[in-house]
Amino acid sequence: MSALFQPFTLKGVTLRNRIAVPPMCQYSAVDGVTNRWHWVHYPSIARGGAGLVIVEATGVSPDGRITPGCTGLWDDGQIEGMARIAAEIKAEGSVPGIQIGHAGRKASANRPWEGDDHIPAGDPNGWETISPSPIAFGGGLSRTPREMTLADIERVKADFVSAAKRALAAGFEWLELHFAHGYLAQSFFSVHANKRTDAYGGDWQGRGRFLTETLEAVRAVWPEHLPLTARFGVIEFDGRDEETLEDSIALVKAFRERGLDMLNVSIGFSTIEGRTPWAEGFMAPYATRVRQETGLPVATGWCIDDPRVADAAVADGQLDLVMVARAHLADPHYPYVAALALEEDRPSWVLPAPYAYWLERYRGIGKAAAQ
Ligand SMILES: Cc1cc2nc3c(=O)[nH]c(=O)nc-3n(C[C@H](O)[C@H](O)[C@H](O)COP(=O)(O)O)c2cc1C
Repeated sequence: MSALFQPFTLKGVTLRNRIAVPPMCQYSAVDGVTNRWHWVHYPSIARGGAGLVIVEATGVSPDGRITPGCTGLWDDGQIEGMARIAAEIKAEGSVPGIQIGHAGRKASANRPWEGDDHIPAGDPNGWETISPSPIAFGGGLSRTPREMTLADIERVKADFVSAAKRALAAGFEWLELHFAHGYLAQSFFSVHANKRTDAYGGDWQGRGRFLTETLEAVRAVWPEHLPLTARFGVIEFDGRDEETLEDSIALVKAFRERGLDMLNVSIGFSTIEGRTPWAEGFMAPYATRVRQETGLPVATGWCIDDPRVADAAVADGQLDLVMVARAHLADPHYPYVAALALEEDRPSWVLPAPYAYWLERYRGIGKAAAQ
């Protein structure tokens, strides 16, 4: 069996293979509450065979949503819909995960297909944004955030804890803290967004304090036998990359000491000046470095949807899990396509019998069932 289809155990949870679906916002919730879009979307992807399905960036508070269409877990009324998603993902054989976060200065934005920019100040659909320092991201996200007070910091940490408890109550077995992509936590770590002179700014320890304290507080309520992970941008591609990587790795070691189980290695996206070198698997070497220097299991994604590339990354010990996002939107049965490409003995075994039986029985006959 190829490395990509080997099971993976982290804490008390075993994934049936190394293919993970990273969080992907659907921008389709109302007041943070899920609906039939999410109830169909997530189980369909799980049915396709991935080992882990992580539900989209879910706001820990209303002002923590990226857009008005983002999901939330700030209210007990949001648990029921999420519980439905978690149960269905699990029933399809995947492990149900969820990402919780606060969007910081990138919050209060229009949906991507409605502009992807800040909702204008004064528009009742928008809200005040907060960040470590009153510095706008820029471009379409040019609204200046309010600088967070220490009371704001305590409030957001408490919101993470409450959202984690609700995620647990909903039945999720894998929690990912959103510390990436220029949202609030990444902004604390970013030299571009954080100019604070108090204990939450300055050197990497100061800029990392909000992240380590949030992680510690969540770990205290998230059961030890369930994986607690984070997605964190270890590099900005802004020209000061080695410095950022060294600081990031030092911080990830601190995460590990505070109980982090795995890192989903990602990009900072906290400056408009970043120049991301898009290419197949370009984040894998950074993830491998994090793995080697921190000893934590790692996942990454970003343009790794060729099954051979994904398989080699696991086989060579570069990655523990491969995050495959858009390819799952194109085809929720991506793991089947991967099994075919990797010439698994019975590629259809990744699918449930009502699909697998026919693909196996008539394999090679007609184009649809593939080669
Ligand atoms: C529609 C869409 C929504 C996304 N939403 C999130 C999100 O909620 N949280 C997150 O960390 N990344 C998010 N991402 C980034 C993906 O998780 C992933 O890293 C990215 O698509 C690159 O992987 P790929 O090349 O396999 O598509 C999103 C990407 C897409 C396409």
